[in-house]
Amino acid sequence: PRSLRVAVIPGDGIGQEVMPEGLACLRAAAERYNIDLELDEQFKDWATCERYLETGSMLPEGWKEKLSTYDAIYFGAVGMPEKVPDHISLWGSLIQFRREFDQYISLRPCKLMPGIPCPLSNKKIGDIDFWVVRENTEGEYSSIGGKMFPNTSREFVVQDTIMTRTGVDRVLKYAFELSNSRPKKHLTSATKSNGISISMPYWDERVLEMSKSYQDVKVDKYHIDILTAWFVLRPELFDVVVGSNLFGDILSDLGPACTGSIGIAPSGNINPEGDWPSLFEPVHGSAPDIAGKGIANPVGMIWAGQMMLEHFGFKDAADTMMRSIEIALESGGENIRTPDIGGKGTCQSLGSHIASLISKI
Ligand code: NAD
Ligand code: IPM
Ligand code: MN
Repeated sequence: PRSLRVAVIPGDGIGQEVMPEGLACLRAAAERYNIDLELDEQFKDWATCERYLETGSMLPEGWKEKLSTYDAIYFGAVGMPEKVPDHISLWGSLIQFRREFDQYISLRPCKLMPGIPCPLSNKKIGDIDFWVVRENTEGEYSSIGGKMFPNTSREFVVQDTIMTRTGVDRVLKYAFELSNSRPKKHLTSATKSNGISISMPYWDERVLEMSKSYQDVKVDKYHIDILTAWFVLRPELFDVVVGSNLFGDILSDLGPACTGSIGIAPSGNINPEGDWPSLFEPVHGSAPDIAGKGIANPVGMIWAGQMMLEHFGFKDAADTMMRSIEIALESGGENIRTPDIGGKGTCQSLGSHIASLISKI
């Protein structure tokens, strides 16, 4: 169906600044391609630290039922670390969405884009072009554990890593399928089975087992420490990289940093079965250091919107959004580009430039 209902949650800091640019681009795409796109902006104060400071919770009661009725959530960023501890704000919002809506895939492209200087030497377009597939609901991000003997000399904390067979297998299956659909058919698994002696050997064991069903996919594995080194030294080695929740988190900031700015990177938090809404957001956070200055790069937010349209099968609109982002990055002048990519422009100058390209290219 050519219709899509989206709950819009901008959140904190630059989330509030990049969101209007993302919405303008989505509206331009929807208009051009006749998509009946509902962008419901009634959630402006949801998942904000201000709300937490006023009410003691990031989300109102009944949030799950209310958001369940949407196809997708378009999400900015959360965090105001000076006023609210990060684990409170994030576990009270984004992490709840991922877990309660069973968004077990975090899909994050790392792509060297035209017009953005690469911080790695001698890299050309095409040399960095891979996907990080991150497990998004379990692993190291578990709430099992606690503090014992507080305020005594025996004080300690413990936090368990949970890897369920279902949880590991489903993210691996997704990553193998994605690899299989790409020309190189190459999957890299992030491990650390030399040091983390129970969960990581288990991860490796499931990779090996799953690989038997994908004979055409070339699989390799690297320990996370050397894998981060190869990201920097030889990013052209990678096609699809699959990792646990924490490893995938780290790789999906490092990958985009290798392409010039984390401000351009998008992310899909996907429930592949469609039983629950999927969530699309930039990889970056609320960036308190630049919030309020109007200079945040809106491309991560806009590209996340592109991923959302692609996910729901609006291929023509998604392709046009992607091309518009590329053209803007390649040929948008100094007064259009944001400072993180070498310009003097603003969030709005770059965002509205992309939106106008979407309408006319
Ligand atoms: P961050 O991504 O917010 O910022 C890291 C650095 O990158 C900062 O210097 C920032 O100015 C820069 N940056 C980020 N996005 C940019 C953009 N679009 N354009 C230009 N520069 C950009 O990461 P952080 O500093 O670790 O976290 C800040 C807050 O955001 C914390 O509260 C953290 O928990 C939260 N956070 C939230 C999310 C999310 O909501 N998905 C993700 C990451 C961090
Ligand atoms: C991300 C972020 C989150 C994560 C934080 C804010 C909880 O870093 O989306 O990558 O660790 O998943
Ligand atoms: Mn992260």
